[in-house]
Amino acid sequence: MEKRILSTEIHEEDVALESGLRPQYLSEYIGQEKVKSNLKVFIDAARMRGEPLDHILLYGPPGLGKTTLSGIIANEMGSRLKITSGPAIEKAGELAAILNSLSDHDVLFIDEIHRLNRQVEEVLYPAMEDYVIDVMIGKGPMAKSVRLELPKFTLVGATTRAGMLSAPLRDRFGVISKLEYYTERELMQIVIHSADKLNVSIDLKGAELLAMRSRGTPRLANRLLKRVRDFAQVQYEGMVNEEVVNTALDLLDVDSMGLDNTDQMMLQAMIERFHGGPVGLDTLAASIGEDSATIEDVYEPFLLQKGLLLRTPRGRVVTKAAYIHLGLEHLYKEEKE
Ligand SMILES: Nc1ncnc2c1ncn2[C@@H]1O[C@H](COP(=O)(O)OP(=O)(O)OP(=O)(O)O)[C@@H](O)[C@H]1O
Ligand SMILES: [Mg+2]
Repeated sequence: MEKRILSTEIHEEDVALESGLRPQYLSEYIGQEKVKSNLKVFIDAARMRGEPLDHILLYGPPGLGKTTLSGIIANEMGSRLKITSGPAIEKAGELAAILNSLSDHDVLFIDEIHRLNRQVEEVLYPAMEDYVIDVMIGKGPMAKSVRLELPKFTLVGATTRAGMLSAPLRDRFGVISKLEYYTERELMQIVIHSADKLNVSIDLKGAELLAMRSRGTPRLANRLLKRVRDFAQVQYEGMVNEEVVNTALDLLDVDSMGLDNTDQMMLQAMIERFHGGPVGLDTLAASIGEDSATIEDVYEPFLLQKGLLLRTPRGRVVTKAAYIHLGLEHLYKEEKE
């Protein structure tokens, strides 16, 4: 399948763009006020006591700033950041080597921490709790376990699925923070900052429209800004305004609420084939030729968040707001009469 411009997963085109746009300190990190103020207290306290920061779990949908925040935590602590991910660590020994290479107060960031395998995860327990690991030396009956001291590091774990984390692992984090979708106002600030860093001229209306179509997600706001910038450069003498945003995003099939063809098709199928629901997830999946997990993880969260879709015990239901947005309000009235 072709990559959707609106998928919040990281695309190749984002990599270079994002590294230049990542805020470095808490004061530059826009939104997530609750997470920020909590972190600030913990960081200040740890610094004052000269102790390592408690282990932190960040969870929430892709592209909301988990990786960014881990870098900020290391910067604010004045320490180094080491980045790895759950699927990248295959053996217990590999994790032991990483832990051993850290210095006191370093931040170890493990992305997709829910995908650590069991053996590796078990090494983390004593490491997180007491800064030690047990290694087996020798083989067979001669083997013995030796306890090694580790540097006093901070683990920052990130996951898009907190529910998939085992309880023993979750319990070892001192701080658990959920990242929320951003408001349009916050996204507008992010767009304006990014435009400034990218040397793009944008007016307020242009920034507002981009923010409205970015699905509460900074990664998307930045990606759309980049696409719109290219457009402005070629056809509009470089200025990003209302007209450029509307024309560019229409061409990219991103509508005024940030829905793309797939979202529209799914809602429309539910309205036309199932009278707006309730329809079971599997039935819906079969009817639009998608698998249920993709609908649940990729398409649905944004539609639920926007109040276009509801999850009920009997299945998914399309709301009146969605009928109106799709220009199918007449069908809604008919159903309910
Ligand atoms: N609060 C913020 N203020 C400004 N820019 C932000 C903020 N959060 C994220 N960004 C921008 O969005 C981009 C994506 O964020 P990031 O890579 O941290 O997301 P993520 O949550 O780690 O995503 P994933 O789950 O895919 O790993 C960053 O490069 C950064 O430019
Ligand atoms: Mg990330």
